[in-house]
Amino acid sequence: MSGAGRFYDDLAPTYDLIFGDWDASITRQAAALAPLLPPGSRVLDCACGIGTQALGLAALGHPVVGSDLSPVAVARAAREAAARSVALPVVVADMRALPFASGAFDVVLAADNAVPHLLTAADVTAAAREMRRVLRPGGRLVLTTRDYDVLRRDRPLSTPPQRNAGGTVTFQLWTWNNEGTHYDLEHFQLEPRGDGWATTVRRTTYWAITRAELGGLLADAGFTDVSWPDTAFFQPVLSAATG
Ligand SMILES: C[S@@+](CC[C@H](N)C(=O)[O-])C[C@H]1O[C@@H](n2cnc3c(N)ncnc32)[C@H](O)[C@@H]1O
Repeated sequence: MSGAGRFYDDLAPTYDLIFGDWDASITRQAAALAPLLPPGSRVLDCACGIGTQALGLAALGHPVVGSDLSPVAVARAAREAAARSVALPVVVADMRALPFASGAFDVVLAADNAVPHLLTAADVTAAAREMRRVLRPGGRLVLTTRDYDVLRRDRPLSTPPQRNAGGTVTFQLWTWNNEGTHYDLEHFQLEPRGDGWATTVRRTTYWAITRAELGGLLADAGFTDVSWPDTAFFQPVLSAATG
C-alpha cells in the first residue's frame, strides 16, 4: 500500500476530530455539492475516507458507493453509515484501478484534496482514465482540491491550529521541495492528557497540482468542459464532462 494508504489507516479512527463538528460538516458539505449533482444521480465517491461527503450525499437520497485506498477508513465509513441508517456500500480500491463496470455511475467524486496524493502526471492520468471509464456517457466528474495556484505562490510552512469542542488540536507542517511543486506534510494531532498533551505525528506527501495541470491531465484522459464553478464548498471545486 502507498504512503497515503498508511497515513489514512492510522488517521481514520480520529479523522472526525479534525472537524469542529464532523456531523455538521457532513451536512454542510453535501448541501454545497448537491447543486452539481442531478437529482437521484448514482454517485461513486472514489476517495470516500470515513465518509464526510458520501454520508451526506446518501442522506440526501443519492445512491452512493464509497471506495478508498485505506481499508481502515472504508471500514469506518461502513460503520458510520450503519449508525445513521444510511445505505452506503463501500469497497477498498485505488482510484487508479477501480473495480466497477464501465458506465456504472452518473457522477464520480473525489473530494477534499484526495487526487493530490497522486504524485506524478502518470498517476493522475491513470486515475482520470478510470474515473472516466466508470462514468456513463454524459456523466460528470467532481473533484475538490486545495487552492494550489495560491499555495504554490505563497509556499506556506504550516496551517493554523484548529481546536475542536473536545479539546483536540490539529495543525500541519509543510516542507516544500526546491521546485515548489510538492511538499511533505506532517500532521500533528494533540489530545489533552492530564497536565499536558498526547501528540501524534503522521506524515504524507502531496503534489501541489495547479488548476492548469489538473485540467490538462483530465483533458488528456478525454474529459471536456473542465470548469471551476462557484460553490459553497470550502475548497475549489472542479467539474468536468465525459466528452
Ligand atoms: C483528505 S482525505 C478525504 C477523505 C474524504 N473525501 C473526506 O473528506 O472525509 C483523502 C482520501 O484520499 C484517499 N486516497 C489517497 N490516495 C488514494 C488512491 N490512490 N485511491 C483511492 N483513495 C485514495 C485517502 O485514503 C483518504 O481517505
